[in-house]
Amino acid sequence: MINDIIEISHEAGNIIRDGFGKNFAIEYKTNESNLVTDIDKASEKHIKEFISKKYPSHGILAEESGASNKNAEYLWVVDPIDGTTNFAHGLPIFSVSIGVQKNGETIAGVVYDVMQNITYSAEKGSGAFANSNKISVSKNDNIKHSVLVTGFPYNISENPENALEKFNSLTVASRAIRRLGSAAIDFCYVAKGVFDGFWEVYLHPWDICAGKLIVEEAGGVVTGFTGEEIDIYTHRILATNNRIHGKMMEFLNKK
Ligand code: IPD
Ligand code: CA
Ligand code: CA
Repeated sequence: MINDIIEISHEAGNIIRDGFGKNFAIEYKTNESNLVTDIDKASEKHIKEFISKKYPSHGILAEESGASNKNAEYLWVVDPIDGTTNFAHGLPIFSVSIGVQKNGETIAGVVYDVMQNITYSAEKGSGAFANSNKISVSKNDNIKHSVLVTGFPYNISENPENALEKFNSLTVASRAIRRLGSAAIDFCYVAKGVFDGFWEVYLHPWDICAGKLIVEEAGGVVTGFTGEEIDIYTHRILATNNRIHGKMMEFLNKK
């Protein structure tokens, strides 16, 4: 199955790359920061057609068109472009993210970094890979030496969960913070040891599904802000190399 996920993520990536920098229609979703383009829709349509043809009994949960057959044994969780704002503004940092769950447990995940042409993949119990190279999280255990990454939800103007205060305190506590604009790529950079930790206050299942498995298979940990186990429907996530997890939790829970 992993080869099929990789194949369809590459096909979707080709659609996205062809559309990058061209004229495409943009619509607003919940507000003027939350965009969807024709290319998101075309990518999602292509991925869904592939799944329906090859795995007709499987369910699909996809960002732009919602869920179908959600209680099936297998569920494909699809973000057709993770990083739409970057895509729409010509910044080449975005991905296709596809995770597959069996009875609610993620068994495989692929994040395709379209413009760098890097395929991150993991199957449960078999490690994590960037193309064919095995990847693992960093060994750093000092928050002061950490480079962290985060993102903000589209309703950031309401400062949900004091997102801006958390950003401030971790900026001061760490070596640096980056904000790339693709949560799926953020997870993969934790898995690869580029970043030591990633947190965000409001993610969706399609942002989380593949990336969480890739971090875990690379030796990292993904929980909620108090260390609790999470599933893909949890909004607050903390993904780290494990060694700085406790320290990150202290900062995220400070009043
Ligand atoms: C968004 C990106 C971004 C994160 C947002 C997500 P989208 O996904 O992953 O990095 O900060 O919370 O919604 O809308 O580009 O698929
Ligand atoms: Ca997304
Ligand atoms: Ca998206």
